[in-house]
Amino acid sequence: MASRPQAEPDGAWAGWRPFRIVAAAPEARDVVSFRLVPQDGAALPPFRGGQHVALRAGPAGARRVRCYSLSSLPDAGGYRLTVKRVGGGEMSGFLHALSPPFAAAVELMAPRGDFCIAPGAAGEAFPVVLIAGGIGITPLLSMLHQLRRDGWPAPVDLLYSVRSASAHAFAEEILDLQKAMPRLSVSTFYSRPEPADLSSAACDVAGRLSAAHLAGVAAPAARFYVCGPAAMIAFVMEALARLGVGAERRFAESFGPPCRRLSGAALAPQPVQLVRSGRTFLWRPGGPSLLELAEDAGVNVMSNCRVGQCDACAAKLLAGEVDCPGQEQPAADECFLCVAQPLTPLIIDL
Ligand SMILES: Cc1cc2nc3c(=O)[nH]c(=O)nc-3n(C[C@H](O)[C@H](O)[C@H](O)COP(=O)(O)OP(=O)(O)OC[C@H]3O[C@@H](n4cnc5c(N)ncnc54)[C@H](O)[C@@H]3O)c2cc1C
Ligand code: FES
Repeated sequence: MASRPQAEPDGAWAGWRPFRIVAAAPEARDVVSFRLVPQDGAALPPFRGGQHVALRAGPAGARRVRCYSLSSLPDAGGYRLTVKRVGGGEMSGFLHALSPPFAAAVELMAPRGDFCIAPGAAGEAFPVVLIAGGIGITPLLSMLHQLRRDGWPAPVDLLYSVRSASAHAFAEEILDLQKAMPRLSVSTFYSRPEPADLSSAACDVAGRLSAAHLAGVAAPAARFYVCGPAAMIAFVMEALARLGVGAERRFAESFGPPCRRLSGAALAPQPVQLVRSGRTFLWRPGGPSLLELAEDAGVNVMSNCRVGQCDACAAKLLAGEVDCPGQEQPAADECFLCVAQPLTPLIIDL
């Protein structure tokens, strides 16, 4: 099976487009928003709240690609991404180290992703429950902006869990949204509050989100959108299922582990041949993924999440073996190019 096509918004560009970071604003401890504008100055296509972009950047010879959700609505000429610095993280460390005048060039692929709120078949609105853990607020925040812009008539609940006040990103922006959206109700959980946080009006619940909290917002037709750490997503999805919320009303997005680094298999450089495009390259452990190498070789490969979740990059293996640490392989003779680690030389139907 060749990589699977997916819908892209109208006006989306193909491949990588050069952008400049023109501003950065701190949102919380280790969380910074970046404003990016296209270097060609041409208009940007619209996107749907919850969608993300793939961003390629880094020093020459060590460029990396990561996905980042768009954390606001489109404006005339730029996108906003909000990035949390993770310990030892290559891309988040690189972005957080940038400072004005932001000389580093970055490239973006057009917005994509299906973690979005779509009105019902007859265009009807339904109660929406957004559940965010930490930096998982970013796609849900752009959903909220979209709901406000569209004048969503049904109730909206945001359950937002952070460790403490210092990790509470977008507190003011969410307050402004509440003022503009009479049907929006926000509950903020501080899972590990500092003593001073307990008297803060910004903290509604000192402690973790529980099944009882979920039961309190589980209106019959409500749809649930969850983004946060993997353990939180697993807990919420299971609790919702126990509350009788069917899979058709539960949607989750995980920002994903760095799967390609976690394999226990003995890895060595492996030659890779893409038969239909006539390209060959060498894959190296710890280096760019098969997806990134194929893109660098000029091959147009469908991709979406880049962490082995969406199956957009599944490709047929004509020869060779791969390890997909922590992931199910799409099929015995297929691999996800974004996370697969070659164990032998590969021949791929691409
Ligand atoms: C659809 C989607 C949307 C996303 N949206 C956002 C967003 O809005 N904001 C955001 O901040 N992030 C978002 N992410 C996550 C983002 O793509 C990156 O994964 C994140 O920024 C970390 O990237 P990094 O390069 O800094 O870290 P990496 O270098 O990939 O490392 C990640 C972690 O792995 C550890 N690690 C590094 N090397 C090793 C090793 N050899 N062995 C074991 N562990 C190791 C690091 O210490 C670090 O903790 C999103 C992801 C997806 C899939
Ligand atoms: S891009 Fe989503 S599985 Fe590879």
